[in-house]
Amino acid sequence: MADKKLRVGVLISGSGTNLQSIIDAAYAGEIDVEVAVVISNRQEARGLERAEKAHIPGVWIDRTAHKTFHSYNMAIRDALKEHKVDLVVMAGYMRLLGTEVLKEYPNRVINIHPALLPSFPGASGIQDAFDYGVKLTGVTVHFANEKFDDGPIIAQMPVRIAEDDAIEDLEAKIHAIEHRLYPEVLQMFAQGRVSIEGRIARIAPHPSETR
Ligand code: GRF
Repeated sequence: MADKKLRVGVLISGSGTNLQSIIDAAYAGEIDVEVAVVISNRQEARGLERAEKAHIPGVWIDRTAHKTFHSYNMAIRDALKEHKVDLVVMAGYMRLLGTEVLKEYPNRVINIHPALLPSFPGASGIQDAFDYGVKLTGVTVHFANEKFDDGPIIAQMPVRIAEDDAIEDLEAKIHAIEHRLYPEVLQMFAQGRVSIEGRIARIAPHPSETR
């Protein structure tokens, strides 16, 4: 285990099952990560309850309480800074992040998407892949930028769509993979193995692979 844990701030809008997988992996000591704060744009997000249960500070930042997108994003930035966050983790946060946050955390904001980008971006990636009839879809973790589902890809895992899969089966398979992949990627950051060269995210080998 590393001496110092990576402090992550998790941004959510909804149920927070990915947040839960990160909390569980951190609690089990599988990753050198501490969830420093959970920020939600929705007061009723189940993820805020999960944070409270895990004794993690939860902050509701209401877009409608801010006159401008700028001041809303400044509030997010301030909450992240207050909790001394190293890495910003979007986990089902259904809005774009403003430059106020992206500039404060250059190459330190990541997102998870339930399809193999650049295929099926947008809010319904699982359904769109299913309806299109692809045989293979999956999960992508990528750097976030000022566009939706667009930044350099850090990690992807495939999920096969079987002949008899209903949409619910596919959703379950995708979420199971998400809950494995996101903690794994956070551990890559905790180990300082992720960097960017232009459009390409580079992952340095695990320390045990370099001997
Ligand atoms: C996940 O499928 C994630 O890929 C997408 O939004 C969903 C969030 O689910 N961006 P949860 O809130 O983590 O349960």
